Amino acid sequence: MAQSKQPDTMEKIISLCKRRGFVYQGSEIYGGLAGTWDYGPYGVALKKNIEGLWWKRFVTDREDMYGMDAAILMNQNVWKASGHVGGFSDPLVECAKCKRRFRADQIIDKKKCTECGGTLGEEKQFNMMFKTQIGATEDETSISYLRPETAQGMFVNFKNVYDSFHPKLPFGLAQIGKAFRNEIAPRDFLFRVRELEQMEIEYFVRPSEWEEKFEEFRKEVWEFTKDVGLPKENIHELEVPDGERAHYSKRTIDFEFDFPFGKKELYGLAYRTDYDLGSHSKASTVPLEYFDEDTKERFTPHCIEPSFGVGRTMLAVLASAYTEDEMGGETRTFLKFAPAVAPVKIAVFPLLKNKPQLVEKAREVYALLKKEFGAVEFDDNGNIGKRYRRQDEIGTPFCVTVDFDTLEKDNTVTVRDRDSGIQTRVAIAELLERLTKLLG
Ligand code: GAP
Repeated sequence: MAQSKQPDTMEKIISLCKRRGFVYQGSEIYGGLAGTWDYGPYGVALKKNIEGLWWKRFVTDREDMYGMDAAILMNQNVWKASGHVGGFSDPLVECAKCKRRFRADQIIDKKKCTECGGTLGEEKQFNMMFKTQIGATEDETSISYLRPETAQGMFVNFKNVYDSFHPKLPFGLAQIGKAFRNEIAPRDFLFRVRELEQMEIEYFVRPSEWEEKFEEFRKEVWEFTKDVGLPKENIHELEVPDGERAHYSKRTIDFEFDFPFGKKELYGLAYRTDYDLGSHSKASTVPLEYFDEDTKERFTPHCIEPSFGVGRTMLAVLASAYTEDEMGGETRTFLKFAPAVAPVKIAVFPLLKNKPQLVEKAREVYALLKKEFGAVEFDDNGNIGKRYRRQDEIGTPFCVTVDFDTLEKDNTVTVRDRDSGIQTRVAIAELLERLTKLLG
């Protein structure tokens, strides 16, 4: 069976995502809002599965990690101390004629507008934080920002968690949440958006052990890509050179992915030194330090930060899963999701909708599987071929069909494998065990 990925894969993925209820354009009925996307029922299920795998690997499966959920709005002094007010910017050029703005580092001709041919102005720095006003007064003191990274919520809570739990170094804080960046040029579907979601860890270490812990997280990032089913050969490490790293980082590895539009950053792993705790200690005058009971030493811990974009993970997962093949003389589209991320694990059908005994039996099987696996769908719309096509397109690994043999012969059902299309008869009594094994 020949399988292929076409060059126009992105358009096909975006269209499938809309058609099948994964992702819609933000504010679509008003013409959309650039850089925003709304997750529909299957999109949110896929997203929650990804986040669940991340939380399990990095929080619940470990003894040294503390989960957090900090506020998105923070005191403006957080962003002054972190360096974001002064330095979280991209180079921008504006066309004198059509007023369009471009990211200076992403255009080839820095003098001429590609849209209207007008002259581009001087390059200036554009701060990407969304500024807002807190409360009814509009003055300097009421300024706040929508956080551009979740990280700072963890740095400013270092002392709170330390005082509540008295953890020994090394230990980490982890959170999943929204971040906002006023990107000059949002593009490539979920890849570069203005409202994004991050899964981040701030892992605090002794200065002497940063290299060892950096290596440990380097491996863990790779493990996570396996959890969500990304092919190893499509991921590449990039050692970010001096001069190109964020202002806080002494070492950064970008994990790049072969997206359909090119090799681009998927995740980052940074050694943030004691930059953030040190800056916040100084600016807030609250010491953010660790006290070593053994040596009686007090010091500022250093920090390793693995940072993962949820949307970029979704896009990488969708792009890897998107497959076309020939089946039954027709071109078939399917999402080859790893079962762990698939929004629906199993679909149950009666062969025919208008045979009450088939429907009743299928409902019974559905209830049995739903109780065990949760993400199970019942479908009796249209003919069986249509139902298979729909489940293939949303990436359901297995379809279970109740047919006349189930009723008249042997109490077995067919279990159809999404990738091969092969159907196997399985006794209902053995169905739970078989599907548990198949779903891994
Ligand atoms: N706290 C560190 C930090 O925010 P970053 O490299 O700017 O570092 C981390 O962002 C991750 O967040 C990226 O690797 C990417 O997965 C995701 N990300 C960043 N900007 C994004 C955007 N505009 N749209 C979608 N994802 C984005």
